[in-house]
Amino acid sequence: MTENRVREMETRDIPRVMEIERSSFATPWTEGMFRSQIGFKDETINLVLADGEELAAYAAAWIAYDEIHLLSIAVAPSRRRRGLGTEILREAIARGVARGAVRVILEVREGNAPARAFYEKHGFVEIGKRRRYYSDTGEDAIVMEYVCGF
Ligand SMILES: CC(C)(COP(=O)(O)OP(=O)(O)OC[C@H]1O[C@@H](n2cnc3c(N)ncnc32)[C@H](O)[C@@H]1OP(=O)(O)O)[C@@H](O)C(=O)NCCC(=O)NCCS
Repeated sequence: MTENRVREMETRDIPRVMEIERSSFATPWTEGMFRSQIGFKDETINLVLADGEELAAYAAAWIAYDEIHLLSIAVAPSRRRRGLGTEILREAIARGVARGAVRVILEVREGNAPARAFYEKHGFVEIGKRRRYYSDTGEDAIVMEYVCGF
């Protein structure tokens, strides 16, 4: 299935990543946030997935000590439910593990049922809740954890 379709995100990818971002989130990241994320090479994992000619997904994470903090992942709406999210998530985790990570942590909006189902399918479990974590809507965040290799 994978033909090295996943690669590191580069500055030239940001316009297309922003399209995916805007069509995926009510409060999207800005271009500057992606630029800054890319700038922290040693502390981050930033990937894009090319499906044919076009970028169809991205993932962005921080690595701190032995932990991957998955900050964001999105697949272009017209390309969802085809395994692309799974492909880029697995690659992000594999790259983190290769750099010494043993677990993945993320926050997901309580009302984001598709994303929660996606993470659960991949072995993430709910370990807590952060009240009113999202300042745009006041929504709670569910904190999920995946223990690598578990
Ligand atoms: C979450 C997201 C990245 C999943 O990407 P995807 O490419 O559609 O996911 P996959 O095709 O790899 O799905 C794998 C499994 O996850 C689960 N899943 C994915 N989307 C789902 C949905 N809408 N409803 C229920 N389960 C879902 C299913 O178990 C699915 O397996 P199946 O298709 O065999 O039933 C995508 O829906 C997305 O970009 N959402 C908007 C951005 C977002 O909310 N990101 C997460 C922020 S925390």
